Amino acid sequence: MKTRNTIEDMDRIADEIRSRINILPEIGMILGSGLGELAESIQDPTIIPYHDLPGWPISTVEGHAGELVIGELEGKDVLVMNGRIHYYEGYEMSQVTLPIRVMQRLGIKILIVTNAAGGVNQDFVPGNPMLITDHLNLLGMAGVNPLRGPNMDEFGPRFPDMSQAYDRQLGEIARRVAEEQGITLYEGIYVCLAGPTFETPADLRFLLGAGVDAVGMSTVPEVIVANHGGQRVLGISGITNSSNLYGEAKTTHEEVIETGLILAPKMMSLIRGVLRAL
Ligand code: HPA
Repeated sequence: MKTRNTIEDMDRIADEIRSRINILPEIGMILGSGLGELAESIQDPTIIPYHDLPGWPISTVEGHAGELVIGELEGKDVLVMNGRIHYYEGYEMSQVTLPIRVMQRLGIKILIVTNAAGGVNQDFVPGNPMLITDHLNLLGMAGVNPLRGPNMDEFGPRFPDMSQAYDRQLGEIARRVAEEQGITLYEGIYVCLAGPTFETPADLRFLLGAGVDAVGMSTVPEVIVANHGGQRVLGISGITNSSNLYGEAKTTHEEVIETGLILAPKMMSLIRGVLRAL
């Protein structure tokens, strides 16, 4: 497996995508577990299975499709990743974030990223979305940062600022849309752990103490690379389960997928509303 991708690797994929479409989307989207339905409502879609893209990482997880869907949603041209890969699958960070680099080579300026997450905040009721206002980069603090290695100056600086990793204007639009639609939208800090284990009660109490509101196994690497490449990011977590601070209940993938079904329509109307407002 390649530990680094060159601009040529990225452009090979970008060129393949470009050769199949006749629009130039400026909005990219990553759909987490259970949100594939949104991709189905895209008009005049061009569907590109990840297998068709040389070097594109393929997800091995149930509930994650593996295709790009490019077309129109709410009057906006979008490129949607239906399914993503995760670090716990054994991929390098450079592979996990390769799709973001390809989006940047395609000229995509806004990234809407979604995920399924466990609620750490004790006030969160599963089945509701959370606007990500910031993240805690625990993996990065431990040295697993997707920007580790020689800097790619074509994209951004060696030491990129992360003080506003989640675009405030986009967040404001999401708040307004949620209010208009009567959707409960929590706000908070997302942490990405490596996974694939769910957290122990001690992990969760540690995260709670660190000010975390939601925990998952994705998104942060992608958001770091998006920021490095100058993209504006909107991040929304779907809270699929409550945190199990004292070990009183088990967390299962089935529960995550099941609550995802309740979340999907809310997340979809939120994202549709944001797209309309852009
Ligand atoms: N922990 C980590 N990742 C998750 C969870 C969780 O509780 N729920 C959905 N993804």
